[in-house]
Amino acid sequence: MSTLAIATAKEVFDLLHDDLLAIEREFGSESVSSVAAITEISGYLREGGGKRIRPSLLLLSAKSQGYSGEGMIRLGAVVEMVHTATLVHDDIIDAADTRRGRPSANTTWGNAKCVLAGDWLYMQAFRTALEERNFRILDLLIGLTQQMVEGELLQMEKLGLAIGEEDYNSLIYRKTACLFEVSMKLGSVLARADAATEHHMGEYGRTLGMAFQIVDDVLDLTASEEVLGKPVASDLREGKATLAVIHALENGSNGEREAIQTVLTDRNFENATHTEILDILHRHGSVDFAMNTAFQYAESARVALNGLQDSEYKRALLWVPDFVVSRDR
Ligand code: IPE
Ligand code: IPE
Ligand code: MG
Ligand code: MG
Repeated sequence: MSTLAIATAKEVFDLLHDDLLAIEREFGSESVSSVAAITEISGYLREGGGKRIRPSLLLLSAKSQGYSGEGMIRLGAVVEMVHTATLVHDDIIDAADTRRGRPSANTTWGNAKCVLAGDWLYMQAFRTALEERNFRILDLLIGLTQQMVEGELLQMEKLGLAIGEEDYNSLIYRKTACLFEVSMKLGSVLARADAATEHHMGEYGRTLGMAFQIVDDVLDLTASEEVLGKPVASDLREGKATLAVIHALENGSNGEREAIQTVLTDRNFENATHTEILDILHRHGSVDFAMNTAFQYAESARVALNGLQDSEYKRALLWVPDFVVSRDR
């Protein structure tokens, strides 16, 4: 086990500052179209901020493996563009009205325009990636896109159902962890790492991504919309059973199970309030269970870095899991 000190948030911010700025510029210049709606929608989302965690991972992966070329700026923009496109589509699917503390794009431009703008942005990400002239990169991005679409579709099929942990895990891998995994692997591809190293970097991304979505799902249950910048309690209202809810369904009394199932079926809180559901979750330690699962994934991510050479970038990668599990938005 490495004794390398974990970086601080300020150190990571300073370490990535210039490259993240370059990625913003790349994203900005790549999302201009002669059709105004496309430029407006992608500009609106870009300016809305966001944590930029995926491009940060790509940069740290590439740099920790000795890479220093321009490809990481390009591919950093690619993963953020893919992420942005999926957010536009996700908010249409979820009928969400806020994103990043502002009205979501679909409320301003409508679903039809947003579907098309999302498609355009998705393809622009591929066009940008193509500039690397590397089939491995396209292979990873195509596999990723198929996983993400499958994830959203599977989720739709499971709406309103009391799914188990196995279904939940396969869902969150596809919709979220896969992009974290691919962001890390792209860093390995740029650095021309061997297959074993790429696998370990991918494992870091996958487990970190699992922790990330579990925390996102806990925040949906426990956070406030002001802090989160997007709707809260929306998963239950959309009929989605997430990890804490799954735990309560498996450990609660018949009455408690019924109350939760009613909300999932009705897709509203008319017959059981959000507070009542939260009380059930707390009574069974279900939120703690979900957070503990996230902590375990975060630890697996750190362990996946064991073979990686010590550097300031590795120190930063050791910090990210802490950030992911302690974030409030
Ligand atoms: C939101 O991702 C979608 C999920 C996978 C939960 P982020 O929480 O990274 O969103 P931004 O980019 O910071 O807004
Ligand atoms: C993330 O799932 C799905 C994506 C890959 C965009 P959510 O539906 O939980 O994401 P948020 O909570 O809307 O950001
Ligand atoms: Mg959503
Ligand atoms: Mg969510």
